[in-house]
Amino acid sequence: MKIIIVNNAKDAGEKAARLVIKEIKRKQNLVLGLATGKTMISFYKTLIRLINNRKIDISRIRTFNLDEYIGLSLNDRRSLRYYMDKNFFTKVDIKKEKIHFLDGKAKNKKRECARYEMKIKDAGGIDLQILGIGQDGHIGFNEPHSSFKSKTREVMLSEITRKNNAKFFGSADKVPRRALTMGIDTIMSAKKIILLAFGKNKAEIVARAVDGAVSEEVPASVLQKHKDIIFVLDKNAGSELEKG
Ligand code: GLP
Repeated sequence: MKIIIVNNAKDAGEKAARLVIKEIKRKQNLVLGLATGKTMISFYKTLIRLINNRKIDISRIRTFNLDEYIGLSLNDRRSLRYYMDKNFFTKVDIKKEKIHFLDGKAKNKKRECARYEMKIKDAGGIDLQILGIGQDGHIGFNEPHSSFKSKTREVMLSEITRKNNAKFFGSADKVPRRALTMGIDTIMSAKKIILLAFGKNKAEIVARAVDGAVSEEVPASVLQKHKDIIFVLDKNAGSELEKG
């Protein structure tokens, strides 16, 4: 496990974006797992700048996003797909057919999740997965007590997650109750993982994920078992880590 602590959110986004560029240069048809949330904003901003300024060819990369709310369509301004279009996909020269997303409107959720697992497999697996962390330790939308063996599936969102995502919906009761998410095992199968976290409000959960017991109570603690995981933190998010 590698931990990189930088001064602020901007520097952390910059650091993570540079690591992604390095991977794209190494493998032009990289399979990139992407995340949403407030944390990712500075990361996507820098990634867009680096890709466009340095004329990095991303026409061959394939992307898979972690999760989507159930009931929201692609074009719904509150969907995670809309977030991605707005904050990344429309700002770079990425091929639409290489963008993969869970369909929150799919009638048969089980079939949709199986389709997604199959697509990831067909792509050769995820080379690099970007992750944020929820205040309750969730990764993707895998809430506490999700099985470490879980695959892509339908989940219920916790109250704390709905409260934290109220910022995108106006209020917590407007946040959908259910979502589709890559499972913990799906995430752990990525060859490399970069987790980003900023701010004092993430310090405690980051410490539990990094230094605490590996337990399904804290989904992100499973990452201690991954052989190529980098935590990119700002000073605040790293402030409760054990020293040394
Ligand atoms: C959301 C997403 C996660 C994200 C996390 C943190 O619910 N499903 O993928 O990492 O919560 O969000 P934020 O960056 O807004 O704190």
